[in-house]
Amino acid sequence: MITLEDVTKAYFSRGHREPLVAVQHVSLTIADGEFVSIVGPSGCGKTTLLNMVAGFEAPTQGQVMLDGTVIRRPGPERAVVFQQPSLLPWMTVEENIAFGMMLASGRQGVDASKVKEMVEVMGLQGFESHRPYQLSGGMQQRVAIARALMTEPRILLMDEPFGALDAQTRSEMQRFLLDLWKVNRPTVLFVTHDVEEAVLLGDRVVVMSTRPGEVAMDLTIELPRPRHWDLVLSGTFTDYKRRILAVLRPS
Ligand SMILES: Nc1ncnc2c1ncn2[C@@H]1O[C@H](COP(=O)(O)OP(=O)(O)OP(=O)(O)O)[C@@H](O)[C@H]1O
Ligand SMILES: [Mg+2]
Repeated sequence: MITLEDVTKAYFSRGHREPLVAVQHVSLTIADGEFVSIVGPSGCGKTTLLNMVAGFEAPTQGQVMLDGTVIRRPGPERAVVFQQPSLLPWMTVEENIAFGMMLASGRQGVDASKVKEMVEVMGLQGFESHRPYQLSGGMQQRVAIARALMTEPRILLMDEPFGALDAQTRSEMQRFLLDLWKVNRPTVLFVTHDVEEAVLLGDRVVVMSTRPGEVAMDLTIELPRPRHWDLVLSGTFTDYKRRILAVLRPS
């Protein structure tokens, strides 16, 4: 279980007398196996929040805990898909995908057949030996997603993972993520700008206010699973969407 207790994060930058408060008084409890979508305006602290759960940043006040223990550093049970593509430029597609596995269990721990399978699922066949600069942005992001999924982490922290993908690939990736989630049941924290995506994927949608980001709404999505894309046409779906947009764009 992940718990955030009254978490505030302020950044103190050189040359700025006032600290910049990124997130403020955020309290959240995320159960094991839960899929939580996070939406909010640009700059409201979504990445900051994820970074604290990942253990890259410490809160200024409050606590971020995993199973009751304060998170102080990154750990192998938490995999991150960054907002910016974050591949190792000198490594090939295959090497990048296997990288997490290699860190966890050494070169001999890399399961080549699993890498191959992931290459296929991600539609990267034929590009195994390419290096990141030879790939499109969307392909780079798929490699990064593959790398995060390879180790079958208990917790997946995904920061707008599908933002750079075209609609078709995006919906394939969504389906793949849901299939994987159904089987492995990782806890997922999924940041997205796309309200439809947030509702379609999540058990819950956490809506953040403008900076300093606070939890403006925490909405449980009671839509049956498996969720097919045509669910977005249903009245219940539209209703969820409307309620979230009312918070995001008050008029
Ligand atoms: N390392 C840092 N040092 C100083 N300020 C930072 C740092 N990281 C983030 N910020 C500031 O904190 C605020 C929140 O940033 P963050 O990246 O968490 O927002 P976000 O919700 O992820 O935005 P976006 O949707 O555009 O990705 C911003 O004002 C940003 O400038
Ligand atoms: Mg961000």
